[in-house]
Amino acid sequence: MSSDRHLPGSFLWGASTSAHQTEGGNTNSDWWAFEHSSIDVIKEPSGDACDSYHRWPEDMDLLAELGFTDYRFSIEWSRIEPAPGEFSRATVAHYRRMVEGALDRGLRPMVTLHHFTTPRWFMERGGWAAAGSDELFARYVAAASLVFASGVDHVCTINEPNMVAVMAAIQRALTTDGSQSPVGLPLPDEATTEALIRAHACAVETVKSRAPHVRTGWSVANQVYQALPGAEDVATAFRYPREDVFLEAARGDDWLGVQSYTRGLIGPDGPLPVPDDAERTLTGWEYYPQALGEAVRHCAALAPGTPLIVTENGIATADDARRVHYTAGALDSLTRAMHDGIDVRGYFHWSALDNYEWGRYEPTFGLIAVDRETFARTPKPSAGWLGAVGRSRILPAVGESPAGVNTGC
Ligand code: BGC
Repeated sequence: MSSDRHLPGSFLWGASTSAHQTEGGNTNSDWWAFEHSSIDVIKEPSGDACDSYHRWPEDMDLLAELGFTDYRFSIEWSRIEPAPGEFSRATVAHYRRMVEGALDRGLRPMVTLHHFTTPRWFMERGGWAAAGSDELFARYVAAASLVFASGVDHVCTINEPNMVAVMAAIQRALTTDGSQSPVGLPLPDEATTEALIRAHACAVETVKSRAPHVRTGWSVANQVYQALPGAEDVATAFRYPREDVFLEAARGDDWLGVQSYTRGLIGPDGPLPVPDDAERTLTGWEYYPQALGEAVRHCAALAPGTPLIVTENGIATADDARRVHYTAGALDSLTRAMHDGIDVRGYFHWSALDNYEWGRYEPTFGLIAVDRETFARTPKPSAGWLGAVGRSRILPAVGESPAGVNTGC
């Protein structure tokens, strides 16, 4: 293996999860309410999820044994602040134990403060767009500061703010006329976008005031919008409110999180459906691994000088060999970007576990399978393959596969 695929020890090599998708019984969150409303986009509720609220030691044991050196997980606002201004010390202590449990196992924890879910009371007072949401978020972050006070080097304030603003627009459409846009996602809600940018700044300030050593950033969903010939201006205008405004807001942060899964094609009239002949994943997205390299290049252009961390990248598939193939392609595109000078400091795969994919369990992104009846965890070959990189610190060559896994097309 050539030395140019060598990763420094400081390079983060991990897997990601989020609280709502794995913990189970997250009854006080807006999403739980959404899952139990009459809105029919939800196929099944999250229920017990992976029961990781209780089984997190097992999750971390597996990741450490597999060779990962880092673990990104989120803490749940609706558990920490079940009623406005009422904080659960026991829940904060629970998440602190997770941080210490990660450190005990040799996993460096990256803590996300908000991953899509808010307390019900926050949603009922108008969500992010309501006045004072930024201050309420900062108050929660201050109350949770024991979690990241020591032993945590990276805090992600808000996961995919652009998708949070899109979800605000979707929820409004569903509750008003029950419709969604015909192709692709709707325009992010503008008031939510502005509020999230303010909330990020407030949270960064709060984290730094409590734990100055922590490196803060937020993670943006990158859609790798590609313009068809003649549609460049349309694509630029399309991209700005959906992505670039959030990337620009990361300028000057300690790092910027890049989350990439696929690409979006833009024609003269706007977004185009996935081409008929393209392979699709279980989420219906185009199989397009090289999106990752393109995403980091775009982020570096929009937030020059800000170090990048890939905080999510992965594929929903029932065929683990395709996961290896996809990930090898994604890592190859990442390595090429790094060779071209893009400053990338870490890679987290989405996801550690097969978990709740926002409305259903069918799209399995996990490196580790979870039995829906017994919650038994079974690492897939991809988990061993990717974990081995953590141990060797050498990126896999394209097409390199674990024994017995066919990465062919
Ligand atoms: C989110 C995850 C989600 C994943 C796959 C990202 O948008 O942060 O929560 O499960 O993509 O859809």
